[in-house]
Amino acid sequence: MEARGLHFLRQRQVLLLFLLWDVSWADAGFGHYVVTEETERGSFVVNLPKDLGLGVEELAARRTRVVFDDNKQYLFLDFHTGDLLTNEKLDREKLCGPAEPCMLYFQILMDNPFQIYQAELRVRDINDHSPAFQDKEVILKIPENTAEGAVFRLPRAQDSDAGLNGIQNYTINLNFFFHIKINDNDEGMVYPVLVLDKALDWEDQQEFSLTLTAIDGGSPPRTGTATVRIVVLDINDNAPQFPQELYEAQVPENSPVGFLIVKIFAEDVDTGVNAEVSYSFFDASEDIRTTFEINSLSGAITLNGLLDYESVKSYKINVQAVDGGGLSASCTVVVQVLDINDNSPELIISSLSNYIAENSPATELAVFRIRDRDSGENGKMICYIQKNVPFLLKRSMENFYILMTEGELDRESRDEYNLTITVTDLGTPRLKTQHTITVLVSDVNDNAPTFTQSSYTLSVPENNSPALHIGSVSATDSDSGTNAQLTYSLLPPPHDPLPGLASLVSINADTGQLFALRALDYEALRAFEFRVRATDRGAPPLSGQARVRVRVLDANDNAPFVLHPLQNASAPCTELLPRAAQPGYLLTKVVAVDADAGQNAWLSFQLLQASEPGLFSVWAHSGEVRTARPPGERDAPRQRLLVLVRDNGQPPLSASVTLQASEPGLFSVWAHSGEVRTARPPGERDAPRQRLLVLVRDNGQPPLSASVTLHVLLVDGFSQPHLPGPEAAAERAQADPLTGPLVVALASVSSLFLCWLLLFVALRLCGRSGRAALPGCPAPEGPFPGQLLDVSGAGTLAHSYQYEVCLTGGTETNDFKFLKSVTGKHQKAGNDLEENSMFVNASGYN
Ligand SMILES: *[C@@H]1O[C@H](CO)[C@@H](O)[C@H](O)[C@H]1NC(C)=O
Ligand SMILES: *[C@@H]1O[C@H](CO)[C@@H](O)[C@H](O)[C@H]1NC(C)=O
Ligand SMILES: *[C@@H]1O[C@H](CO)[C@@H](O)[C@H](O)[C@H]1NC(C)=O
Repeated sequence: MEARGLHFLRQRQVLLLFLLWDVSWADAGFGHYVVTEETERGSFVVNLPKDLGLGVEELAARRTRVVFDDNKQYLFLDFHTGDLLTNEKLDREKLCGPAEPCMLYFQILMDNPFQIYQAELRVRDINDHSPAFQDKEVILKIPENTAEGAVFRLPRAQDSDAGLNGIQNYTINLNFFFHIKINDNDEGMVYPVLVLDKALDWEDQQEFSLTLTAIDGGSPPRTGTATVRIVVLDINDNAPQFPQELYEAQVPENSPVGFLIVKIFAEDVDTGVNAEVSYSFFDASEDIRTTFEINSLSGAITLNGLLDYESVKSYKINVQAVDGGGLSASCTVVVQVLDINDNSPELIISSLSNYIAENSPATELAVFRIRDRDSGENGKMICYIQKNVPFLLKRSMENFYILMTEGELDRESRDEYNLTITVTDLGTPRLKTQHTITVLVSDVNDNAPTFTQSSYTLSVPENNSPALHIGSVSATDSDSGTNAQLTYSLLPPPHDPLPGLASLVSINADTGQLFALRALDYEALRAFEFRVRATDRGAPPLSGQARVRVRVLDANDNAPFVLHPLQNASAPCTELLPRAAQPGYLLTKVVAVDADAGQNAWLSFQLLQASEPGLFSVWAHSGEVRTARPPGERDAPRQRLLVLVRDNGQPPLSASVTLQASEPGLFSVWAHSGEVRTARPPGERDAPRQRLLVLVRDNGQPPLSASVTLHVLLVDGFSQPHLPGPEAAAERAQADPLTGPLVVALASVSSLFLCWLLLFVALRLCGRSGRAALPGCPAPEGPFPGQLLDVSGAGTLAHSYQYEVCLTGGTETNDFKFLKSVTGKHQKAGNDLEENSMFVNASGYN
């Protein structure tokens, strides 16, 4: 504002100057005055009357006025003395700034007559200001490689004073590297420059701090300082350096991705980016680039892919380290891949046959090669097959093996082998490979069929229906296929050919089932034997044989046949009974036979009807042991058999007696005579003619029976007052069987026996001529008693007996009337059975 005012005033002043130039300038003077700045108010500038040549009083009278261009009153006029004095402290720097000299223009106006005096007041500078730097600190960044003599401009300091009081010189504190040089610029201003005297080295000293002093020209001079901080800038003058040129690392081949192989480090003594080293592969193959990875910052080389010793055993990696300034260094990293036993052995089969005939001699089955891609121990192998098989491995060449049989095999003991070939390497851990070869042993017809039993015993009930399945034979053949397909056939027995075997049995050739072709009759054929043969279909065929014995089982198809007394109405047989007979008198014996066997032939006698009940009873109390067949050469001289005696009660009670006979089938026990005895002494009132009906019944299921009618005539004349009881008679008979009246009886018995023999022959004739004519007549086919067969092998034949005692007109030796062949020794009463020995005359039947 002030400046603008001054400017305006100056324009007006110039205008006034031109206006007044002609009018009054002639008498106007021009004053030059000087005042030093900062002098106290009222400092003397000039004595106007003196300077203008006026009187002092004139100043006041002409209203003398001092007018500055900027209308400020820097000076005032002392009218008393005429001195022009400073009105205030004048500050040159404030009034004029840097302008020098500092002029204040003013007019001195006077009236009566109007006069103008131009004047200028110069405000003289004093050194009242110190140089000052705008920034107390100056930072200079100088790269270390800056050449000597380089100059760096420094900021100037400011000093409000002008002229000599302004800044005259700059200095810097003493140092080795820099000095100050003062330059003038075009405007004549001095400014300091810093001159580099000596090359800097960042690595040596990174920073300097200098004090820049500005000095003005005052007297005394004033100074101002600033700090010049010199930052030495690092220059990439050092390349990175690897401590070693070659790094070596050993890496197991099974190392995982990310595995740290090595960490390289290159040192760079520079700083900042110049020391920022980045690492990279240099001139690396694609394989290396995919397998490895390098961390550009840390220098860590890690696995990026999988190693395989078998394909690459080592890698040579060039690594380069580059700093921010582009300087580089390189080194080599050698990665040795360590073999790990990571490859199982392999087995390569060159040829293989899975089949081998069982009778082949030692034969090669397979040829194979083994290999392991590992090396060293990891690649060494051993090869073996399991133990306990008839195979062996033969090594033919390095790593070539032959699998062969040790010798002939037997398909029947084992037809399939799973051979496990194991290949193991010797690494740690051991790796192994197994290969299983299945060897099938093919069949050769080397086994004959064998029957499940060497002999079969089959049973057929007699009277069977034709084509009855009577049993089966079966043979096995341990071969297979057609070698085991069997055909059955019949063979006659070797020594004793059975004529007509083909009409008796047949065999199903495929199944071995045996069939009876026609109805069998136990009484005609009790057993027969033949052989069966099984033949396989191998080439040549093999066959096996077995013996088959067929037993015909008895059925109760024959009713008992009464031998005595003869049942012939034309000649009724009448027994005589003395009236004086004692109880137990043996009247007669009813003798019957049954063509059946076993139980079916066990006969029991029963008094069915009697005209005088109670007078008679029927006893059957002798078990006759007979031979069933002629004793042969092969029968042991000592035989033992067990006879069971059982009553007919409910439940039956039994006892047993052992005879020394052990050949079953040689003997049979019969009970076939019913003794008719008196139960009490005949009385006076008993009718002289008695009629008894005795029932003979076998023990079959269902039982068959026959009956016989006895006619008894009670007589007086034929008296025997001292007839003994049965027991006494028996004793006597044993002691002296042929004494006394028994001679007579024996004669009668003999005659009776003759009579019976005749009748028997007649009966046989009857049986031949027609059975239908005589119901209940047996149809024996073989010679009696030869057709009596087999006491069953167990020797426990059970016979039931019914005993009744009576007296008879005959003597106890009546036994011999009918069956004189039976010895008395074993006819003891059942209650004193004990082990006895029986001697059989080997020459004939009893
Ligand atoms: C500035 O000062 C230095 C020493 O302080 C002196 O050598 C030099 O001559 C001076 N320069 C001027 C122009 O006075
Ligand atoms: C052999 O191996 C096969 C298949 O694994 C199996 O069915 C067969 O039973 C094996 N034979 C033997 C004798 O182990
Ligand atoms: C029974 O007697 C008659 C004669 O009357 C005779 O023809 C027949 O053969 C005899 N029967 C027996 C079984 O002896």
